Amino acid sequence: MKTTQTVQAVASLFQPFASDKLSTGNRIVMAPMTRSFSPEGVPGPDVAAYYRRRAANGTGLIITEGTTINHPAASGMTSIPTIHGEAALNGWAQVVKEVHEAGGKIIPQIWHFGTSRKPGESVPNPEVASIGPSGLDETGTKTGEAMTEADIAAVVQAFAEAAADAKRVGFDGVELHGAHGYLIDQFFWEVTNQRTDRYGGDLAARTQFAVEVIEAVRKAVGPDFPISLRISQFKLDAYTAKLATTPEELEQFLAPLVKAGVDIFHCSSRRFWEPEFEGSPLSFAGWVKKLTGKPVITVGSVGLNVDMTGAYSEDSKLETLAEKLDSNEIDLVAVGRALLADPEWAEKIRTGREGEAVPFSREVAATLY
Ligand SMILES: Cc1cc2nc3c(=O)[nH]c(=O)nc-3n(C[C@H](O)[C@H](O)[C@H](O)COP(=O)(O)O)c2cc1C
Repeated sequence: MKTTQTVQAVASLFQPFASDKLSTGNRIVMAPMTRSFSPEGVPGPDVAAYYRRRAANGTGLIITEGTTINHPAASGMTSIPTIHGEAALNGWAQVVKEVHEAGGKIIPQIWHFGTSRKPGESVPNPEVASIGPSGLDETGTKTGEAMTEADIAAVVQAFAEAAADAKRVGFDGVELHGAHGYLIDQFFWEVTNQRTDRYGGDLAARTQFAVEVIEAVRKAVGPDFPISLRISQFKLDAYTAKLATTPEELEQFLAPLVKAGVDIFHCSSRRFWEPEFEGSPLSFAGWVKKLTGKPVITVGSVGLNVDMTGAYSEDSKLETLAEKLDSNEIDLVAVGRALLADPEWAEKIRTGREGEAVPFSREVAATLY
């Protein structure tokens, strides 16, 4: 009886999604997760099989792990896949082919580390300095160089080329990594962006770099190719950071990004059910949808019913998630750790077998299955 009730309660997760540029078979999206299994930046057959397995088991849309653009200071690890160069692009073409054959859709997350890159042995081009809007890390300490206008132009161009290549090898869209304190987000955040030129200033002015990236990507991929932008209030080393402290500030932040051509906002939060601002139950993703009218992806602890001690909880909040879909607060749901741990997660949820899902652990995170 319980199984039947559960299946009905989560049925909204398995309804098709359609927007003007992107459609998916259901609402489940694999969240981008860096796996570092791509030696010299090249995703091989094991990476293709890993993504294919999830597509074959009911994940409607895959957003790949972050994949770095063609700039000498873009990547923080040699085993992170790139999205430039013949070998890596051929690897991605195979990933795309396999995911499509399995009935899924897939878009790459394209990425520049900014000052989060720590030059060292396993980092490409260790002799090259890291760059960021002001050369500052998340604590405001100088760890790299402030970008010149020429640096900015080169990085904008590299994002556009990556997006054009993504389209050429058959991806279904592209996601720009504008979250978690990496380069694009370093421009958004006042702690890491202290510029006094047109790339700095108030929150709206700090979107200028992203606006130029989005416009260049749009020009490179044409009007019909979906562009997702991942954004977050928090930073990896600053969980309580906020770009916007009120809905009004959030609106000022989002307006130039919408105008530049974002189709989908991927709103990264750590717990999807938490209200973003006082006085309203709306989540971060819910607010972004309300303020932009654009489709949104939520994320954060979906399907994680095992706490840090390994204790199982009956309530993984999937019914709360389904309610948010039903009320149109959100459109799509990204699942990270639960899908990393179990490629069959979506199918198990669909068929009321949530209790059989492999829990996330350090051990599963060390393998690529
Ligand atoms: C191993 C791992 C790697 C990750 N790598 C990325 C990444 O490359 N890009 C990104 O935007 N987020 C990355 N994230 C964050 C996830 O996309 C997701 O937002 C986060 O795990 C919360 O979702 P979850 O609670 O369902 O795991 C990563 C998370 C994990 C666990």
